[in-house]
Amino acid sequence: MSNSAATLAETSEAEIAVHWKEEGYYYPPAQFIGQANLTDPSIMERFSEKNFPECFREYADMLTWFKYWHTTLDTSDPPFWKWFVGGQLNACYNCVDRHLAKYKNKAALIFVPEPEDEPAAAITYQELYRRVNETAAVLRDFAGLKAGDRVTIHMPMIPELPVTMLACARLGIIHSVVFGGFSGEACGLRAADSGSRVLIYADSYWRNGKLADHKAAAEIAVDVAQKEGQPIDKVLVWRRYPGKYSSAAPMKPGRDYFMDDVLKDCSRTRVEPASMDAEAPLFLMYTSGTTGKPKGCQHRTGGYLAYVTGTSKYIQDIHPEDVYWCMADIGWITGHSYIVYGPLALAATSVLYEGVPNYPDAGRPWRIAERLDVNIFHTSPTAIRMLRKAGPDEPKKYDYHFKHMTTVGEPIEPEVWKWYYEVVGKGEAVIVDTWWQTENGGFLCSTKPALDPMKPGSAGPGLPGIYPVIYDEEGREIPAGSHKAGNICIRNPWPGIIQTIWGDRERFVRQYYQKYCRNPQSKDWHDWPYFAADGAVLASDGYFRILGRVDDVINVAGHRLGTKEIESACLTVPEVAEAAVVPVVDDVKGRMPEVYISLKPGVSDGHRVAEKVTAAIETMIGKIARPKHVHVVPDMPKTRSGKLMRRVLAAISNRMEIGDITTLANPDVVEQVRRLVQGEARVPTREGPEDLRRFGQEA
Ligand code: PRX
Repeated sequence: MSNSAATLAETSEAEIAVHWKEEGYYYPPAQFIGQANLTDPSIMERFSEKNFPECFREYADMLTWFKYWHTTLDTSDPPFWKWFVGGQLNACYNCVDRHLAKYKNKAALIFVPEPEDEPAAAITYQELYRRVNETAAVLRDFAGLKAGDRVTIHMPMIPELPVTMLACARLGIIHSVVFGGFSGEACGLRAADSGSRVLIYADSYWRNGKLADHKAAAEIAVDVAQKEGQPIDKVLVWRRYPGKYSSAAPMKPGRDYFMDDVLKDCSRTRVEPASMDAEAPLFLMYTSGTTGKPKGCQHRTGGYLAYVTGTSKYIQDIHPEDVYWCMADIGWITGHSYIVYGPLALAATSVLYEGVPNYPDAGRPWRIAERLDVNIFHTSPTAIRMLRKAGPDEPKKYDYHFKHMTTVGEPIEPEVWKWYYEVVGKGEAVIVDTWWQTENGGFLCSTKPALDPMKPGSAGPGLPGIYPVIYDEEGREIPAGSHKAGNICIRNPWPGIIQTIWGDRERFVRQYYQKYCRNPQSKDWHDWPYFAADGAVLASDGYFRILGRVDDVINVAGHRLGTKEIESACLTVPEVAEAAVVPVVDDVKGRMPEVYISLKPGVSDGHRVAEKVTAAIETMIGKIARPKHVHVVPDMPKTRSGKLMRRVLAAISNRMEIGDITTLANPDVVEQVRRLVQGEARVPTREGPEDLRRFGQEA
């Protein structure tokens, strides 16, 4: 095989992004435009800089306020922006109560269990109202919780999860949902950081054909929180099958309670929705950053809810008549904003699927779509790649029709986009590629579905009221059409942005604003661009193509994992001397973590240590962080000052050009490691994706 043929054969789907050419436009179908919420092109004028920040009144007016606000944006304490100051509202009231007059008999949620023989359950707005009220009564009267308290919810995709979140919101309790796939340790650390004294669990859930024991994680979470100095008084446990406990973990008397038991005392109780300040925190969502410690992104009530409602209406095109299915997990920000708060604020019917997309086969999502007549579908490139690989012809077999489809969380390769468009969408659906982050509350870049043409692989322009810009390292603007990548930033504040990092104002400023702040004394928002930590390219038509993270975060299947978090987990294995984690390209998941470890003197059984490392990562973080490989190396490439060169390891893992290593303290190690990973023969190198070329450069 010639060199170029070898390179070609190795070029996987996930890296086409680097080599792709400018794609042509696809236009929204006339039928879609005919019914869309947003068809008036004057939106961009209405939300232009000269109308900022008052333009966001349009979103806030989609909500019901107990008290209208007096100041749209308060910039007196930069960059801690305040939105809709003086206003009072309740998020649960906006998502449930206010729909009762018109929609009480309409499905708010449709729960689809993973086992196909278990019927889907529709929960009407009236039923949701009843369940949320009774749950709120338990939280208030049984658990003694009040507005401002934090509660950690570690639950899978069952309807009791949104019910519990809404019950918290009803009382002004700040919920912190931890993704169900995270480990008990991960949950315990987050519970301690947030100062939660109550944990809410499910006993079990279906995943991949098995009823997984989830309550077992609670035991670990309680211990870990305790060790961190946070005692847990109560663990409230929802049973997947009320009355039947499906976990091997014992229930600890005086601490653990079944929700279906304690709810009996609260049957028919009504709880008044608390009138919350627009700036009162609504929830925390922990996400990975550049240090080992996840950060609690603190979202406010008024601005957040206004932003997700506005974007659900205009970008997701949600009408109350729609059946909307976002296949994300509620344990991530996408689920909070675009399964629960946004769709329910608009009185939509939101579908909740318990299991994995390809269980029992790759036709499952399309059977669900056909059965429920889903017309808006929302998922990630990883799910699309997986379904395409497992069943490229499956969608054709089912009689469903989407008007609108979303992709989110990672760059989507044009080839994958086209399959989504032609095969999944049957050429009938408009697609939005939405770029945003946990910190942002809602979408930042996307096409407006009835107004802008789509371009495969590009997210599109900034949303109404969002003014993105690309800066180089020195803060100079990189102009549109220059084909140069830089750091995408948002020049202005917007209502969905987090208030702060829970308990760490300084980290908030340092992480998002320090890099490009023009004047730390300034009270003018123009001096405080938001640094997103993503690389991007701006085409001459104003469309942004997102390239991926520029920091130590790996985007695995659309989920954020910090390399430092994974390295800390590796170092809990006593035989490990040093650990380095780098991203490696994966055909389905986009990127995966790859681990390099060196062993302490005298340790010889590398294979066994590698297995222990994988187990430690799963225990400390969760299966989602499982590495693609663990390489046991004789030593790590290091600079003379002893810095570990992750860039070199990333180049080896991804068969990229290694670059200059003459300044290393131990350049010989590089070739040893390369042989270990790639084999004896010299493997042709390739240019590699932009995010990997930048990876670890500042280390
Ligand atoms: O790198 C970007 C990528 O996902 C990161 C944010 O991850 P998280 O906070 O977990 O939120 C995911 C869902 C909102 C970003 O920094 N990302 C998100 N959306 C896109 C994307 N990359 C490319 N295209 C997107 N549409």
